[in-house]
Amino acid sequence: MIPVIPALLGVLLAFLPAPQAQARDRAVVGGRPVDAAEHPWVVALASRDRFGDTRSGQFCGGALVGVRTVITAAHCLSQEVLGVAHAEVDDLHVISGRNDLGEDTGREVKVGKKWINPGYDTGTNAGDIAVLTLDEAMPGGSTITMAGSGDRGYTPGSAAEVYGWGDISGNGDYAPQLRAAEVDMLEDSACARAYPNRSEGAFDKDSMVCAGVAEGGRDACQGDSGGPLVAHGKVVGLVSWGAGCGEEGRPGVYTRVSAVASLVREHSG
Ligand code: ARG
Repeated sequence: MIPVIPALLGVLLAFLPAPQAQARDRAVVGGRPVDAAEHPWVVALASRDRFGDTRSGQFCGGALVGVRTVITAAHCLSQEVLGVAHAEVDDLHVISGRNDLGEDTGREVKVGKKWINPGYDTGTNAGDIAVLTLDEAMPGGSTITMAGSGDRGYTPGSAAEVYGWGDISGNGDYAPQLRAAEVDMLEDSACARAYPNRSEGAFDKDSMVCAGVAEGGRDACQGDSGGPLVAHGKVVGLVSWGAGCGEEGRPGVYTRVSAVASLVREHSG
């Protein structure tokens, strides 16, 4: 009778996920703190009504591509994320230049018009883009240029950086400080191989691009969505989706900015 118990335990343990190992593998956006004032085009998307005051209401990221134009992920404005329809969120604002979300440094500007890509596909995550028009202009010189399709930043192997105030461990440890992680732009075929299963989201090279590091450990994570992936000085991607955070062989998938740049221009201002 007695040997049955350890045997059963062994079987049980074999089927249980190892939480410690997973937490370690998912470690960090893999990043380091960066100075928000030096990266004013990285913005936090925030609503104190929906998410409370402690982190200035931050729930997603975005990129300032015009003095009154922010691009972010369409899924950031979904009912799933906001808990209510976006039209019911009256205090949606963006924050630029705030190093610590517990402080009130930098600029906070209200969002006026919102355009959420009607072509966004919640099944595959294709077309994950929204354009926000700000009530007031941010300072000139605080914007970043959107990459075009021929840009060097899309060359596989290019160095890129992803920015955000999101989860730094994959376990809900939200950073108060803006952080950046260095990742490599990857081949489309590598992404397609990493996500062969439609149930996780499907990699579509026309509307998405992916980035990561072979060994894992550096990636965007929850709360970074909508934030910029920057290569060769231009925004090439917006944090969209991925399996876990920083797991080996599971790169981060980003909205391909060059594919939506004309839509953005059409719907800004
Ligand atoms: N969907 C997530 C968000 O809303 C972003 C996930 C990115 N994941 C990744 N492993 N790169 O914040």
